[in-house]
Amino acid sequence: MDFKQGDFLDNSSQKTDIEAPAAQDLLPPLQDNFGRTFDYVRIAVTEKCNLRCTYCMPEEGVDFQGREKILHKEEILRVIKVLARMGVKKVRFTGGEPLVRKDIVELVEGAASTPGIKSVHMTTNGLLFDRYADRLLKAGLTGVNISLDTLDSEKFVRITRREGMEKVKESIQLALDTGFPRVKINVVLMRGFNEVELHDFTELARNNKLTVRFIEFMPFDAHQIWETGVHFASAESLVNQIQEFYPGIQPAPGTRTEHHVFQAPGHIGKIAVIPAFTRSLCGNCSRIRLTADGSIRNCLYSDKEYSLRQMLRDDCSDSDIEQLFRRAFGEKEKDGFEAKKASATHQIDVKDIGRVSMTQIGG
Ligand code: GTP
Ligand code: 5AD
Ligand code: SF4
Repeated sequence: MDFKQGDFLDNSSQKTDIEAPAAQDLLPPLQDNFGRTFDYVRIAVTEKCNLRCTYCMPEEGVDFQGREKILHKEEILRVIKVLARMGVKKVRFTGGEPLVRKDIVELVEGAASTPGIKSVHMTTNGLLFDRYADRLLKAGLTGVNISLDTLDSEKFVRITRREGMEKVKESIQLALDTGFPRVKINVVLMRGFNEVELHDFTELARNNKLTVRFIEFMPFDAHQIWETGVHFASAESLVNQIQEFYPGIQPAPGTRTEHHVFQAPGHIGKIAVIPAFTRSLCGNCSRIRLTADGSIRNCLYSDKEYSLRQMLRDDCSDSDIEQLFRRAFGEKEKDGFEAKKASATHQIDVKDIGRVSMTQIGG
């Protein structure tokens, strides 16, 4: 089954009183050489995180960059404004853990009030969510994706190297109670670890208006289980299991990352599978990435970066920002496999950049 859905097909989380950029401010849409347009920016706002998930970071953390290297609020909002003029409509704040950043509410508010931006989302581990829920909703946050890989508190400690499962569950409930239009649970599925919990997770969609999403494990961290694939379970195998759980399960609308998305009979929520590693979602790619230290990435699997930070600090024009995005996306590969292959050929850059954790790329 193959759904080609725009991120806005399921549009109940969009702002309705949307203000478009003034006609004279509009720029041609950001496109690549394969005819794709890019309307969704994922912005990492910090590299720091209050968990230490084994698939993401070593216990001791990574060599976090000094504060001066991380983009300031004004710089991030300026980039969003330029992107909105180029057709970007959706912003997601990621990290690291975005809620460890002190000005996160102002960032959300600034993004949500940018002409052209229709929705503002956040991917969080949920640990600090109760401190911010009300303010984030008021600031205009339309969706929260909360990561939770297990419903077993002992396994939670094993995977995150910290306590906190109950807190995360409470945050999911709080997100629903507070009234966020979109609430999702991100489960990184690892064979031999949490695959046995697949059914417990899918059952969360029965009585809760949320989407439970299973993400293919990406062996991504240089210090951890990179390339060994020991825990890998394919999207296809997960979809098969889900279809066996719920005879008569139906396809449902979802976002572009939710390459497989369903609603089971009698469920009010949805179930999705994200082929993050098998990469069958690439043809539909609409994502721009900005790292916390101000570099553009044109693909999750590419190591090539285009640094905006110094330009921003050297008083560049909006047109300079626009041109760097156009260059980055003019050089985007066809898919994540090609991007990875091309990255292997510029190993020196990779070493220089030294990204060793997903927390530095923003997922
Ligand atoms: P929605 O907008 O709600 O669909 O969220 P999202 O899936 O775009 O964002 P989220 O931060 O929740 O990411 C969920 C998972 O999808 C993470 O593991 C990401 O690394 C993975 N993912 C997000 N974008 C891409 C992508 O462009 N390529 C691949 N391969 N994986 C991605
Ligand atoms: N494989 C798959 N998903 C990952 N995430 C972080 N690292 C990986 C990985 N190696 C997920 C997080 C979060 C999202 C942003 O990315 O669990 O839900
Ligand atoms: Fe887009 Fe690269 Fe992700 Fe594929 S792997 S969906 S091309 S960012």
